[in-house]
Amino acid sequence: MTNGGNLGTIRSIRDLDIANKTVFMRLDFNVPLSAPDDTGERHVEDDNRIVESLPTIKYAIEKGAKLVIGSHLGRPDGKRNPEFSMEPVAHRLAVLLGQEVTLADDCVGEGIELMAQSLKGGQVLLLENLRFYPGEEGNDLEYAKQLARLGQVYITDAFGTAHRKHASTYGVPSLMPVKGMGLLIEKELKFLDPLLKNPKKPFYTILGGAKVTDKIKTIESLMSRVNGIVIGGAMAHAFWLAQGDTLPPGSKTPKPADIEAARAIMKEAKRREMPLLVPADTNQGFDIGPKTIERFCDFLKDAKMIFWNGPLGWFEKPEYAQGTFEVAKFVAELDAIKVVGGGDTVSAIKESGVAERFDHLSTGGGAVLEYLEGNGLPGIEILRSARQQLIQPTLS
Ligand code: 3PG
Repeated sequence: MTNGGNLGTIRSIRDLDIANKTVFMRLDFNVPLSAPDDTGERHVEDDNRIVESLPTIKYAIEKGAKLVIGSHLGRPDGKRNPEFSMEPVAHRLAVLLGQEVTLADDCVGEGIELMAQSLKGGQVLLLENLRFYPGEEGNDLEYAKQLARLGQVYITDAFGTAHRKHASTYGVPSLMPVKGMGLLIEKELKFLDPLLKNPKKPFYTILGGAKVTDKIKTIESLMSRVNGIVIGGAMAHAFWLAQGDTLPPGSKTPKPADIEAARAIMKEAKRREMPLLVPADTNQGFDIGPKTIERFCDFLKDAKMIFWNGPLGWFEKPEYAQGTFEVAKFVAELDAIKVVGGGDTVSAIKESGVAERFDHLSTGGGAVLEYLEGNGLPGIEILRSARQQLIQPTLS
């Protein structure tokens, strides 16, 4: 149970009676799929988000709940499109769970309601892609009502989608009185909350990836908490231009808004007298150079807390992976709490071979960044149940 001060509490699946109840469980099964194979089938390429959802699914199964699982996959823009079918996810989930998973051919309607009603305790029904209807992203009330009819209890463990105010993440829980979070969201909050509320100092953030504008609000919020910022990846290009340097030959010029955002961050860092490390050398503009690797590691060595979002180079190409991997290996050995957010960054840390030395690899990309802006996430805030006050009759 998470207490939100005057805002009410968020219940965990562990606080709810789900035995023999139909549970509508919103998960984030938005996973990368392969291109179709010879038989036309797609396969799940990275099952991390499915694996991370297993403790909650297994918990519900053990308690005898009847599970109706809903998720989106990709961005089918409100239209049924077989390319975004949940079928590969259903196969992977069945293998990981070691039990049958029924894949529905739709996610709303009478037929689906009947399927949900005929489930027995411990059985799993996976709905077809929730984004096959425009009502999902539009948070349409009628669509949310149809989904809400599929369960008696609402559980969300879709941390990666908790920043979206969609029908299944926001509309449905606003209609269902009995609701709570799953074990993955509990774990995410356990590691992300201290970054916001009680960071161990020195607290540093390592930021990479492409666009500064995507991260500016998070960076602004982090600046009031961190003791230093390390910048790498394609994002460094905007910082080079902002400080008057030229780009390596052949580099893509960042958008003016990104250069402006970099300039604003540099100005704020200066005002706060906060170290902001920008790469001093580069491997052809696609990775940080050896001097920068050394400088970054030297700077990070006394960290007690680190939040890392965004690879420091084009790590998918072995010739540009050194910067990210070397810094990852160095950080892995630090006596600090190390939290990583973002799908690419998590993949990079895994590929560097030191993932188990990190404290938390978040399943959220955009969701982690928005969480660190400090305003809560709609898909989590909607779970708060209003505090009740018992008013005794008094004689006046
Ligand atoms: C993600 O992968 O970040 C989440 O699943 C949300 O997906 P979206 O960005 O398409 O809303």
